[in-house]
Amino acid sequence: MSASLVTVEITKHQHDLSINRPASGVSLQGRIRVPGDKSISHRALMLGAIAQGETQIQGLLLGGDPRSTANCFRAMGAEISELNTELVQVQGIGLGQLSEPVDVLDAGNSGTTMRLMLGILASHPGRLFVMTGDNSLRSRPMSRVIKPLQQMGAQIWGRQNGTLAPLAIQGQTLQPIHYHSPIASAQVKSCILLAGLMAQGQTTVTEPALSRDHSERMLQAFGAELSSDPETNSVTITGPAQLHGQTVIVPGDISSAAFWLVAGAIVPGSELLIENVGVNPTRTGVLDALSMMGADIQMENQRVVTGEPVADLRVRYSSLKGCTIAGELLIPRLIDEIPILAVAAVFAQGTTVIRDAADLRVKESDRIAVTATQLNQLGARATELPDGLEITGGTPLSGTNVDSHTDHRIAMSLAIAALNATGTTTIHGAEAAAISYPDFITTLQQVCSEV
Ligand code: S3P
Repeated sequence: MSASLVTVEITKHQHDLSINRPASGVSLQGRIRVPGDKSISHRALMLGAIAQGETQIQGLLLGGDPRSTANCFRAMGAEISELNTELVQVQGIGLGQLSEPVDVLDAGNSGTTMRLMLGILASHPGRLFVMTGDNSLRSRPMSRVIKPLQQMGAQIWGRQNGTLAPLAIQGQTLQPIHYHSPIASAQVKSCILLAGLMAQGQTTVTEPALSRDHSERMLQAFGAELSSDPETNSVTITGPAQLHGQTVIVPGDISSAAFWLVAGAIVPGSELLIENVGVNPTRTGVLDALSMMGADIQMENQRVVTGEPVADLRVRYSSLKGCTIAGELLIPRLIDEIPILAVAAVFAQGTTVIRDAADLRVKESDRIAVTATQLNQLGARATELPDGLEITGGTPLSGTNVDSHTDHRIAMSLAIAALNATGTTTIHGAEAAAISYPDFITTLQQVCSEV
């Protein structure tokens, strides 16, 4: 698509992204690479900072969220070179050696930064840490990690009875626990495992279904003693651990690839090859859901890179049909992809029902409400359910003004929906995309062309 068909207007407070779909339509063609996986980028920076020796990171995501993590750990004494995709060097300062920061730590928009860092900081005796975030993060629930940490002996204070940031943490010597998490959440699991690094003995987390396992893979690669029991979805770490700096090659983020998978599947005449995408089985629910809808997606060139499965994904346009996306085995494996799967549902024949995803209400925005209202603004038929969405596909969309609600995944999902909406769609607050995908608009301009 020529630049004039995808335009960005930068106002004082936000970017407006306009997609002007020509009457003849557009199609998407090409080979693309998506930025580094956000979850793996956070973990590489964090483990690198608390390990002994140097960690080298290739392919780091340069989005707003990993920048927040890097800045927090720099403020506590870790030396992290300037962030770039080629090579980031982290001089680890060793377990338990983070220094008391002289100012408030700012996790920005990043729930992963705040929740994982809490586990690390709570186990640093004798130091006080104060942590905050942006408007969105200050309204997101922190009790899911604070409660188990308190069971380990952590001292944490926060607004609204200790549940919301800003948070103050007085580091303590923690005791190991066996925590039965009520939710399948990698942020909860990782927080407790990171706290368990310094607790004497075995810390176990059992979750109702397996959430993404990047922490387990990376902790083991860094030398921690860790065992998993797939029968019970339990993972045990033995502390105190010894962590040694490693080389981490970050694969492309399947959550970012998901925008192109859906774009390729719904825009007639499209074919895209997305190279170097992380296909860890705890993250590939989006492929399962799109396959149920009848999408034509092939996994090519499968390999393993520094402990994570990677592949190239080829998608071709095909007609989609509605399906049911639900259940504790599937939802945690595609939780971040639900807004873009909702876009796929809008262009599928029949009804798609998404359930068991109530956690979407406490993500960067209330993604159930925002997905429904913004897609309906374009003419879709989406109904909110308490824990998901019901979407009847097949109604044509017409371009109009929509809003990201400062949520990166909503901004990008709306841009993909706009490719099939008549006329001009303007997405207010499109700068949010830079949280996880700074080059999203550039790639959009590269792969689209007028039919
Ligand atoms: C993440 C885990 C998920 C996901 C988030 C990143 C992680 O959250 O939604 O974007 O890196 O651990 P939950 O663990 O809360 O489901």
